[in-house]
Amino acid sequence: MCGIFAYLNYLVPAKRKEILEILVNGLKRMEYRGYDSAGVGFEGTNTKNGSHELKTIKQKGKVARLEEEIAQTTDLDFEKEFDTHIGIAHTRWATHGEPSPTNSHPQRSDPSNEFLVCHNGIITNYKDLKSFLITKGMVFESETDTEVIVKLVKHISDKHKDSAISFRELVELTVQQLEGAFSLVFMSSKFPGECVSTRRGSPLVIGVKSKAKLSTDHIPILYSKDHRGLMNPALHHTDSTTEFHPIGNKEVEYFFASDASAIIEHTNQVIFLEDDDVAAVQNGCLTIHRIKRTLDESATREVTTIKMEIQQIMKGSYSSFMQKEIFEQPESVVNTMRGRVNFETNQVVLGGIKDFMTEIRRCRRLLFIACGTSFHSAVATRQLMEELTELPVMVELASDFLDRQTPVFRDDVCFFISQSGETADTLMALRYCKQRGALIVGITNTVGSSICRESHCGVHINAGPEIGVASTKAYTSQFISLVMFALVMCEDRISMQDRRTEIIQGLKNLPSQIKAVLETDEHVNTLARELYQQKSLLVMGRGYNYATCLEGALKIKELTYMHSEGILAGELKHGPLALVDKAMPVMMVVTRDKVYPKCMNALQQVKARHGNPIVLGNNDDKETQQQVNKYIGVPSTIDCLQGILTIIPMQLLSMHIAQLRGCDVDCPRNLAKSVTVE
Ligand code: F6R
Repeated sequence: MCGIFAYLNYLVPAKRKEILEILVNGLKRMEYRGYDSAGVGFEGTNTKNGSHELKTIKQKGKVARLEEEIAQTTDLDFEKEFDTHIGIAHTRWATHGEPSPTNSHPQRSDPSNEFLVCHNGIITNYKDLKSFLITKGMVFESETDTEVIVKLVKHISDKHKDSAISFRELVELTVQQLEGAFSLVFMSSKFPGECVSTRRGSPLVIGVKSKAKLSTDHIPILYSKDHRGLMNPALHHTDSTTEFHPIGNKEVEYFFASDASAIIEHTNQVIFLEDDDVAAVQNGCLTIHRIKRTLDESATREVTTIKMEIQQIMKGSYSSFMQKEIFEQPESVVNTMRGRVNFETNQVVLGGIKDFMTEIRRCRRLLFIACGTSFHSAVATRQLMEELTELPVMVELASDFLDRQTPVFRDDVCFFISQSGETADTLMALRYCKQRGALIVGITNTVGSSICRESHCGVHINAGPEIGVASTKAYTSQFISLVMFALVMCEDRISMQDRRTEIIQGLKNLPSQIKAVLETDEHVNTLARELYQQKSLLVMGRGYNYATCLEGALKIKELTYMHSEGILAGELKHGPLALVDKAMPVMMVVTRDKVYPKCMNALQQVKARHGNPIVLGNNDDKETQQQVNKYIGVPSTIDCLQGILTIIPMQLLSMHIAQLRGCDVDCPRNLAKSVTVE
């Protein structure tokens, strides 16, 4: 849902070509967030009159197209060296206005580029603001909601032209007029070498790279004295004069990004901004401001050391991030369980929720709320959750949950599952439940994400960065995290100890079994060749494998653009069977668990309609194999974990079909990795 990146070097000389490279590489790391157009804004000097001015280069398409466009730009002195320089960049997932250079970011305040902004999110009151600004003589050129932001800054700046208002104060006055979700970075020709950035509802992280040790690992927040209105002169003052900059010299580089993965190759020292923080860099000093202080908020922002490695966000020898992430699953599931599951003593400890377990055990019901693949991980574990907790378990799509204004009680425990930790629907549902007094548990893959920070407690799934837009390894790690939670819930139940033991032993064997499933890759590729020209693929199953059908079908449709539907086999005769004939491609998940006889019935029903299904089953199940002529076998595990092994062939199948159809598996059309708008 758009990626923002900004780079500011202060007394760290760099050539323009190096600065542009840093900006473009930052965008490439965040391309998964949106890839229909991209742009950069940077400082330059007017060669005719020597004045300081801002330039933009914007292009429709992926970041590589922008890179080509930059290389072809003839009026740039790439070798020019800057002691201090600021550049902002953006990769877009269009919401308002089709992908085009004009609709790309940075958006500008006026043809002279006095102010530039990059935006991630949606401004919901943009129509009102636009009408107002038009009455003030502003001429709009794009169809974006973003353009109102930068025009509003200009409008406020013009009104204050006789005062010494700072760039940061202008931005503060501007964002007070905005409704919706945003993270923003601004630059201005009026304020050379400065950058101002803020967020509300969309993520923003600042990386700090400095030769000298940082003066503090907690930046004090500066509070403006007054926040009454648009033209309030009191905003010119702050309560404190504390500044933050590295000790000794001030040679420093700052990186602003929607995601830490774009920063990690430069520095692991980062600051996660909170909603309504305004970060300003002036003369190499970073300060963080808020308009007013509320009772329970922290008065500092911590400089965090993140542990991500650069190799984790590189493709290596794999053809795509998706392939890399599918093949990482033997290790990613180990990382999810590391330090949590003791296979000798059968103990499971989830450090992030252990202090809340008494409260959780006392709850009235458990709610699992998520979107897309993350929702499917809750579907996959619901049956086990009900069995081991003996509590009512609700599994909800976040958008629908909010639409229904579902009743939530103080003694509910609400889980929010999200790979990115930033999905707007999930975050809105979290806030809705929090307001009603429920305990909030976050299950995320992104340290420092909004869902992480707004939860009372939580579990990091530790799958490592997931770059491919289609979620793969996060699903299996979410699945395991939820299984671990169910195991913690029943640790004191004597009647459940045998079940716990078999599940824990099942977890222990998973990494080697996943490796065995990955060896079916070639066979799955052969089946993909038979399927890739089809229009549709039905995926049927029931019980523990129903989630595999939903998730498998989602992977097929989002990556291959073929129609695909996950069908609960028990529902076949209530409608979907009408679709089956000898031409309709069907996959059936049939594993040796309690619903096996019912699945076999469904298989017979399909065959009786001349269907010729591919069956995904256990590799030691010769009986079922004999019934069909296309079969994918996976190792057998305990019933409630089987879905971890059956989803992997579906991930591989969707990837191969997509590649055969010429689709980009890492960046499927119309989608973005992190959906930070409702
Ligand atoms: C599908 C996929 C999406 C996400 C969904 C929620 O492959 O990735 O369906 O699962 O957009 O995203 P998160 O988990 O980041 O909240």
